Amino acid sequence: RKIPTYAPEAFTDFTRPENQQAMEAALTKIKSQLGRDLPLHIGGELIHTEGKITSINPGRTDEVIGRVSKASQELAEQAMQSALTAFESWKKVPARERAEYLFRAAELMRERKHEFSAMMILEAGKNYAEADCDTAEAIDFMEFYAREAIRLSETNIHHPLTKIDSEENMLTYIPLGVGFVIPPWNFPLAICVGMTTAAIVSGNTVLLKPSSITPVIAHMFVELMEEVGLPAGVLNFIPGSSAEVGDYLTSHAKTRFISFTGSKEVGLHINKLAAETAEGQIWIKRVVAEMGGKDGIVVDETADLDAAAASIVASAFGFQGQKCSAGSRAVIVESVYDEVVEKVVALTKNLKIGLPEENFAAGPVSDKNAYEKILEYIEIGKNEGRLVAGGAKAEEAGNGFYIQPTVFADVAPNARIMKEEIFGPVLAIAKAKDWQEAIAIYNNTEFGLTGSFYSNDEVRIAEALDTMHCGNLYINRKCTGALVGVHPFGGFNMSGTDSKAGGHDYLLLFTQAKLASRKV
Ligand code: SER
Repeated sequence: RKIPTYAPEAFTDFTRPENQQAMEAALTKIKSQLGRDLPLHIGGELIHTEGKITSINPGRTDEVIGRVSKASQELAEQAMQSALTAFESWKKVPARERAEYLFRAAELMRERKHEFSAMMILEAGKNYAEADCDTAEAIDFMEFYAREAIRLSETNIHHPLTKIDSEENMLTYIPLGVGFVIPPWNFPLAICVGMTTAAIVSGNTVLLKPSSITPVIAHMFVELMEEVGLPAGVLNFIPGSSAEVGDYLTSHAKTRFISFTGSKEVGLHINKLAAETAEGQIWIKRVVAEMGGKDGIVVDETADLDAAAASIVASAFGFQGQKCSAGSRAVIVESVYDEVVEKVVALTKNLKIGLPEENFAAGPVSDKNAYEKILEYIEIGKNEGRLVAGGAKAEEAGNGFYIQPTVFADVAPNARIMKEEIFGPVLAIAKAKDWQEAIAIYNNTEFGLTGSFYSNDEVRIAEALDTMHCGNLYINRKCTGALVGVHPFGGFNMSGTDSKAGGHDYLLLFTQAKLASRKV
């Protein structure tokens, strides 16, 4: 069959009553399935354990989303063995055939789009639009990586080697082996699906350890892959603790690569552990890490200030600031500073806080630990800047982890809230004397994930393109919302290994190139 050209999935317009109703119906259906006990999936076997991870609704903490079985080291070892066995046959399956599993899964996910989104609304605290983007991105990753695997398998057609008379030469990209995949909770479907399917479609087998905050939506994806007939052992689902299962598999001699998305601290820990060579290990483990950000928006005096303020608020507070791309800083030039701050404050105060399933603009943060950490940062901020919006819990919003969208102005470039990743609804604003100083303040970070520059001056835009040091740089638009295939996503420095998810280089990270040369 002819595969159509990839295009990103359209987002759902929830101002249309029929779409709103379809989401409400999906929420009703998913709610009737909450509270179940979900098993591990190891080599096609469903295993229930005594110990469980309980996933709750962060917007209504007495609601249990599901209880997921928890792997021990013994079960992690069993999963490793089944992934090793499955690899021997999976690596021989032609790319085109491997891609078909992804195409089929994407098709089914598209049909049940609102059900996947509804689960994230309940388990992760996303509102309708945020959940819908997440599901759309998951579909995009499968559509995109499936095509990429096919392209890579035909690389001799698209990128032929230099010919010499006496030989026939061919380069193929072969898989690595068993990969340990550790996705985050903040895009609990999209990033989980992207990381997992990229590895699988490249011919590897996977040990998937979902975040303990969002294991139920991850399980929904695993069930989908079983439904499309992915062979047993190719994808093993092993929720568990980082200290027990995480470190065990990271250090394991047979782990060929680790694909991680999460905090800088955990990423560095994994990188260190993976650098050790275990007994019997015959390769250097590959680590692909997408870590944090302290992303920001720079605004100069020539910019459209209303557009800039709207983007600052959308980037800072979309999904409660819990995106690695979140614009948690804004740097504004002096001459328009007060005006932009005023607009930002007005827009922030308009954000209504409440239950995600009722589709409020602002919802809860992920869990109790995050809630406490963010509130601590807000207290730190009170000593580092001028509080102009929010600044406290939002208990009236309900029995969940609600925090008011919070803005601090007049923050010094070296303040902690300007430099440390908070991962919550907290925006720090700094004043710069001119656009050059503003860019310097933007670059004053150990991270380098996303950034935006707002200006109408072409010379300055050219300079910003050149000097703002981040993996995803945007001009006159918000710094969140990268689209698969359109904005390959990943950052510099402490933001990670600059793996570009949703880009043409991504599958190379899960393959190795083999050159075969034959004398003729
Ligand atoms: N890709 C997401 C964004 O751009 C973040 O992970 O917002």
